Amino acid sequence: MKKTFYVTTPIYYVNARPHIGHAYTTINADFLARWHRLDGYDTFFLTGTDEHGEKIAQAAQRAGKPPQQFVDGVADAFKKAWETLHISYDDFIRTTEERHKQVVQRYLQEIYDRGDIYYGEYEGLYCVGCERFLTEKELVDGKCPDHGVEPEPRREGNYFFKMEKYRSWLRDHIQKHPDFIRPERYRNEVLAILSEPIGDLSISRPKSRVSWGIELPWDPEHVTYVWFDALLNYVSALGYPDGERFKKYWPAAQHMIGKDILKTHAVFWPTMLKAGDVEVYKHLNVGGHLLADGRKMSKSLGNVIDPFDWARKYGPDAVRYYLLKETPYGLDGVVSEPGLIERYNADLANDLGNLLQRVRTMVLKYKGGVLRRVDPGTQEEGVLRAQSNLPATVRRLVGELRFNQALEEVLQFVRSLNRYVNERAPWKIRDPEDLDRVLYTVVDGLRTASVLLEPALPGKMAELRAALALGELEVADVASPRGLADGHRIPEEAPILFPKIETEKKKEKKGAGSQPAAPSERPETVGYGDFARLDLRVARVLEVEPHPNADRLLVFRLDVGGEERTVVGGLAEHYRPEELVGKEVVLLANLKPRKLRGVVSQGMLLAAEGSGGRLALLTPDRDVEPGSKVS
Ligand code: MSP
Repeated sequence: MKKTFYVTTPIYYVNARPHIGHAYTTINADFLARWHRLDGYDTFFLTGTDEHGEKIAQAAQRAGKPPQQFVDGVADAFKKAWETLHISYDDFIRTTEERHKQVVQRYLQEIYDRGDIYYGEYEGLYCVGCERFLTEKELVDGKCPDHGVEPEPRREGNYFFKMEKYRSWLRDHIQKHPDFIRPERYRNEVLAILSEPIGDLSISRPKSRVSWGIELPWDPEHVTYVWFDALLNYVSALGYPDGERFKKYWPAAQHMIGKDILKTHAVFWPTMLKAGDVEVYKHLNVGGHLLADGRKMSKSLGNVIDPFDWARKYGPDAVRYYLLKETPYGLDGVVSEPGLIERYNADLANDLGNLLQRVRTMVLKYKGGVLRRVDPGTQEEGVLRAQSNLPATVRRLVGELRFNQALEEVLQFVRSLNRYVNERAPWKIRDPEDLDRVLYTVVDGLRTASVLLEPALPGKMAELRAALALGELEVADVASPRGLADGHRIPEEAPILFPKIETEKKKEKKGAGSQPAAPSERPETVGYGDFARLDLRVARVLEVEPHPNADRLLVFRLDVGGEERTVVGGLAEHYRPEELVGKEVVLLANLKPRKLRGVVSQGMLLAAEGSGGRLALLTPDRDVEPGSKVS
C-alpha cells in the first residue's frame, strides 16, 4: 500500500479578496503536495474558505449583500485565484457547506456529552479582527498588535470548552514530539504559552449578537465560535468520523499556517481533538510573513501586493518559484517586483532556460535530434555524482521544510551542467561518440532537474519535458542517472521556456549609455540633526539562531518595547547563540530593512570592533526597558 500524505492550508476568511499572503501559504502547501505525489505518496491536499462569524457578517453588510450571496462570490474568487497559480488542491471546503456544519454539530455534541463544555459568564477584551478574546498580556499599548485597534470590552453568556484540562497533556505531547510544531522557534513559543494556565475557551456567541454561524445543537440561541467551527474543517472535509478519506488520511496531517494563527492551531486545535478522542495531527508547519517595504502586508496599511498581477505579467510559475526560493520557510521575507525579475532572470532565464536552449540547438544541429546512450568517461564523473545524490538531498530538504535550499540544490546542479557544457565545448569535439556522450549527459541531467523542480514550476517543467520529449515522470524515474533511452529523439520545435525579462532601467541604459556615478563626498563631522535622524533603541534578545544560509550570521528575535523584530548580525564567530538570549543590546531601529542571504533584517545591532577584529556588542550598563531610546 502507498504511504499517505495529507496537507492543508488555513481556510481563508472571505472578508478579503485573495492576496499574496494567502498565495504564499497556499503555494508552500502546493509545493509539499506536489512533491509527495511525485515521490509516490497517496496525497490529499485541502484548502478552502472560512465563511462564518462577525467579521464576515460585517463585510457582507458593507457590501450590501445577504451573507450567503456575499461569501459565494468571494469563495469563487479564491477558487479562480488558485487556478491561476496552478494550485493542485484535491478538495475545497467551505464552512457554510452542509457536510461541514453536520460535523461541527456532531463534534460539539460529543464533547458536550462527555462533560467538557459548560455555560458561564464571560467578561473580556474582544478583537473582531482576530475573532477572539485577547489577554491583557497580548496587548501592545492597549491595542491588538495585529490589527492596531483597541479591543472592545464585552460581557456575555457563553459556553466554554474545558481547554485548561488538557494543558499538561499537550505540553507533554509537544515535549515528546520535537517535530510536532516546526520550525523550532514556534515550538518554543507554544511551550512558553503552555507554561502558564491557558484558561478555558469560550466557544459560542449569543445569536442575538452574531447570527451568522452554526447553531449549537443543544441550544439554538447560540452559534458556534468561528474558530471552533473553522478548525474542524480539517476533519469535516475528510468525512469525519466514518468517511473513507478520514480513515485513510487522518492523522497523517500536516497543517501549513502563517505565524499569526499559531495559538489557535497549536493550542485550541490539539486540545479540541484530544477532547473528542481523536488522534492529533502529525505536524504544524508555521510560515513567516511576507513583508512589503519592511512591514507586514495588510489591507489597512495599503501595501498589499497583487500576486495575480505578477502572474499575468510574468506567468504563475515565476511567482511560485520566486516566493518559494526567496524566503527560508518559517522566517519573514521581503518581496518586490524588481526582486522577482532579478530572481527569474538569474535562475530561470539564464541558468535553466539557456541550458535547455543550447542543448536543444546542438542536438538538432549535430545529431538530427537523436541522442545515443554512450558510456560515460571520467569527465562525466562530477555531473553524475551530483545527479545521483540530488533526489535524496532534495527529499531530505523538503522533509525539513527547507524549500528554498531544495530548489537551490537543483539550481546548483543546473549550473554545474552549464559549466560542464562550457568545459567540454561540444562545438569543438571532433569524435562523434564523445559528442553523443556530452549531449546525452546534459539532456539526462535536465531530465532529473525537471522532475525535482516540478513542485515549484509545474507548468514550465511540463513544457521543458515536452521540449525534450520526456513524458510524465516521477522521482522514482530519476532515482539514478542515465535513465534516458538510447535513440531518444527530441522535437524540432519548442518555444523559449523562460524569455528574459527586460527591465526599464536596463532598457534605458542600452539607449543612453551609462554614466558612472560621481563619488559622494563624505563629511568629516556631522551636525546634531544628522545624528538625531538615527533611531537608536535598547532591545532585549528573545531568541538567537544560526542563519540558515550563512555560517557567519546569526538571526536575532528582539523585543523592542512590545514590538518584535528579526535582525541579522555577523556575530556567529564572536558569540554562541545561547549566551546572547536575555541580553540587552542597542539597535539601529530605523535602518531600511534589507535582506541578508534570504533573511530580512529589520535594523542593525551596534558592536565595537576590538583588536584582532573581535566584536563586542554594546549593552546598557544597567537594566532599562526594551524600546528605550538611546541618544
Ligand atoms: N480563517 C482563519 C484561518 C482558519 S484555519 C482553520 C484566517 N484566515 S486569513 O484569511 O486571515 O488567512 C490567514 C493566513 O493567511 C495566515 O495564517 C497566513 O497563512 C496567510 N497570510 C495572511 N497574510 C500574510 C502575509 N502578509 N504573509 C504571509 N502569509 C500571511 O486566519
